Amino acid sequence: MAPPNRTALARLDTPLMALPRLGREIGVALWVKRDDMTGSVMGGNKVRKLEYVIADALAQGADTLITCGGTQSNHCRATAIACAQLGLRAHLVLAGDSLDHPDGNLLLDRLAGATITLVSPELFGTALNAEIETIATAERRAGHKPYVVPLGASFEPGLWGYIGAVAELKTDCAKAGFSPEILAFATGSGGTQGGLVLGNAMYDLGARIVGYSVASEAGELASRVREQMRQWKTRYRQDIDVDSLPVEIDDRTVGAGYGQADDAVFETIARVGRLEGLVLDPVYTGKAMHGLLTDLSHGKLKGARNAVFLHTGGVFGIFPQRGNFPA
Ligand SMILES: Cc1ncc(COP(=O)(O)O)c(C=O)c1O
Repeated sequence: MAPPNRTALARLDTPLMALPRLGREIGVALWVKRDDMTGSVMGGNKVRKLEYVIADALAQGADTLITCGGTQSNHCRATAIACAQLGLRAHLVLAGDSLDHPDGNLLLDRLAGATITLVSPELFGTALNAEIETIATAERRAGHKPYVVPLGASFEPGLWGYIGAVAELKTDCAKAGFSPEILAFATGSGGTQGGLVLGNAMYDLGARIVGYSVASEAGELASRVREQMRQWKTRYRQDIDVDSLPVEIDDRTVGAGYGQADDAVFETIARVGRLEGLVLDPVYTGKAMHGLLTDLSHGKLKGARNAVFLHTGGVFGIFPQRGNFPA
């Protein structure tokens, strides 16, 4: 089956750029695929996913998207902005302690007019699905047609976003005259990784797909990615042996946990900004770039001559953590 319909939201193709000074320092040809440039306020990896998710929601007659994340969720912000652009309603279920003093993504959620329900981080970990079902029921009673988008849009329609990104990247690399041995990125809820692993197989990119975890233990996240790929295969009746595909996750980048980065990550963010003018964030891309540079410098990714870093966006995450950057 061919890819399903998509609602055009992203500025594609995103640029593939060389990182010559950083690459010279670590002895590898280093490139960055700028998916932080899928849009300005809507930028980042979620936009590619949302193109397929929103098309699916519209096909089902939805007028309201319900989704969830932390108060600084990039996914929720991208959903809120996309909904506002399309005249849909967004209802965000955000885990956190307070909605006072909105900053970063939360401020943008507000500006995009999203309805926000604040839940405690404990409830988020335990009774999230029940809370979302209650909200969906209330939305239906109020005469709306809700569509629930799971955490990070990491489910069957969302996976198509990064399947398509691999086709785009393959063309970029061919134009630049190389094939990447490594494609590295930040992995959180797993849908970006699932799409990349599938796309790598479908379009024969031939890269090692290496996800640097920002929150979860590697084995547990790999199982979730596998399950998403299986569900995608079933729903879209694809003839791919998904269980034979490698799902490689490095979880040494998790550090103290989601949203908490070590000093070394903040130093990497400052180094990359200084050397290349590329802005990374401490929640996702900073951790992943730190993991990639550490592995490349220590020879852990043997045989890598060309490595592509997928910049998945998240720049608004730097502002609430402004106090942690080196002076
Ligand atoms: C900036 C950024 N990078 C990476 C990710 C991880 O993507 P995924 O949830 O598909 O694993 C996210 C998810 O929220 C994100 O916001």
